[in-house]
Amino acid sequence: MSGTLQVAVWRGGDDGAFQTFQVPRRANQTVLDVVSHIQRELDPTLAYRYACRVGMCGSCAMTVNGRARWTCRTHVDKVIDGDRLEVAPLENLPVVKDLACDMTVFFEKMVQARGYFRGNRDRHDDFARVAPGSAPRIEADEAIECIGCGVCYASCDVVRWNPDYLGPAALNRAWTLVQDARDELGAERLAAVAGDAGCHACHTQMSCTERCPKHLSPTRSIAGLKRATARAALKGEL
Ligand code: SF4
Ligand code: SF4
Ligand code: FES
Repeated sequence: MSGTLQVAVWRGGDDGAFQTFQVPRRANQTVLDVVSHIQRELDPTLAYRYACRVGMCGSCAMTVNGRARWTCRTHVDKVIDGDRLEVAPLENLPVVKDLACDMTVFFEKMVQARGYFRGNRDRHDDFARVAPGSAPRIEADEAIECIGCGVCYASCDVVRWNPDYLGPAALNRAWTLVQDARDELGAERLAAVAGDAGCHACHTQMSCTERCPKHLSPTRSIAGLKRATARAALKGEL
């Protein structure tokens, strides 16, 4: 494959602008390959993030031709518009510089949603076992594959309208823990996700599910939280 890509890349902070680079076209080239070429060969000051290059770490997400994607697994051929590619930082997050955004609020919301495990055993106890075939384990099976890339968060209109909304990734994570029989946070977690900025704010418009690169369904997890919080409220537990 030969030719040249015209690549418009966001430079600067929230008030930055696009700068265009010419990048040689190559077979099987990913968007992350393009960004890396620019940083290594054309402008070493370009800021961006990645780590694994194989779709595991979740750090390489950017907005590519207007849509949030993981860039290490996105082939240029799939997203190119003529010979033009536009690469920008993720939406709904503050820009640090160029293609790197500040993920602090994304991870703080994981904590707000009690997206962490709290057990009651210590090192003297035997392992707590979860039966692989149990209904809650099967329910959590898909959702625990989240890599924390932020694509869903950047694609969610409710996050855009209400910056306090916990967002699809944090709520998806909370749902996996609601399913965990070993976890002790129970009603505290349900209360944390039941508020105005929690699961009931989701409009079920499904951008998160359509765009998740791991083909997960945060929308489904959020629907589970809606049911669980409603049941807990009816029982007077919230
Ligand atoms: S389904 Fe809910 S969480 Fe997902 S993008 Fe839509 S509003 Fe956001
Ligand atoms: S749910 Fe999907 S899109 Fe959202 S952070 Fe996890 S892997 Fe990324
Ligand atoms: S670089 Fe790790 S998921 Fe893309």
